[in-house]
Amino acid sequence: MFENISWGKRNRLYQIVNSRDDRCLMLAIDHGYFMGPTHGMEIPRDDTALLMPHIDSLMLSPGILSSSIDPAMRGIGWVLRATGGNSILDADIDNEGLILQAEEAVRLNASGVAVSIYIGAEHQHKSLMNLAHMINSASTLNLPVLAVTAVGKRMSDKREKRYLSLASRIAAEYGADIVKTYFCDGFEEVVKKCPVPVVVAGGAKMDTYQDVLDLTYHAIQAGAIGVDMGRNIWQSEYPAAILQGVKAIIHKNADLKEALELVKGLQNDENKRRMLFETSEAEIKASSIH
Ligand code: R5P
Repeated sequence: MFENISWGKRNRLYQIVNSRDDRCLMLAIDHGYFMGPTHGMEIPRDDTALLMPHIDSLMLSPGILSSSIDPAMRGIGWVLRATGGNSILDADIDNEGLILQAEEAVRLNASGVAVSIYIGAEHQHKSLMNLAHMINSASTLNLPVLAVTAVGKRMSDKREKRYLSLASRIAAEYGADIVKTYFCDGFEEVVKKCPVPVVVAGGAKMDTYQDVLDLTYHAIQAGAIGVDMGRNIWQSEYPAAILQGVKAIIHKNADLKEALELVKGLQNDENKRRMLFETSEAEIKASSIH
């Protein structure tokens, strides 16, 4: 994978994607950039501790990398969120600008940067210019760019194949190295029409572990190289258990039954999420809008 890409960028891409099988288990914890201390990820240093050994890469905001991640940590790729400018208190979040420059990302030793695009939203043009600008500056530094096909609040019904195919293809046409999008019916078509590797987001927390494994399994079967998943891992009761189930599907070709058995067997005290803070229904609802 990633043939005909310069050595430096390829090396960084293989900090994000596992070179043993060209698959990717990326843990997304960047939600705080507009959601604040989202439940399950209130204290990133602690909430990621049991998860780090199982992932290929971590997607996070630059300030959480520098404040909460041990610089001595090895073997994990860092994908830094590079767009933002809003919060969940805004009417919507698509009016984004670049919050991180490629040079600063390299100074932080990032493996890549993530830029959201909002196709069809009010600020579509601005978000696409953010992507274009980042691709142009990142390419001079051999820094990979992950394009995130975001929908925001107003476009949240757009998680279907025609829309996701449109958004993913546009991202690839601009020069994104990897596209992150949502899973949908007919996802195979989205992957086939996108000439660069695709990873899927998990989206808002689902009801059961079976749902999470199902999404992962079918995304991989449809051609995704992996996931960039957040809330369905760290908002669950046993984050390290469900993460290992997802990992088994991605890296060990486990089927649904095997993965579910594995998760069940790992639901023990050691893997249980420590609930340090009270979480209101309103907070839970707020964290599931996007
Ligand atoms: C949006 O908040 C971020 O781009 C997330 O990284 C993305 O939505 C993936 O996380 P989740 O699996 O929680 O949707």
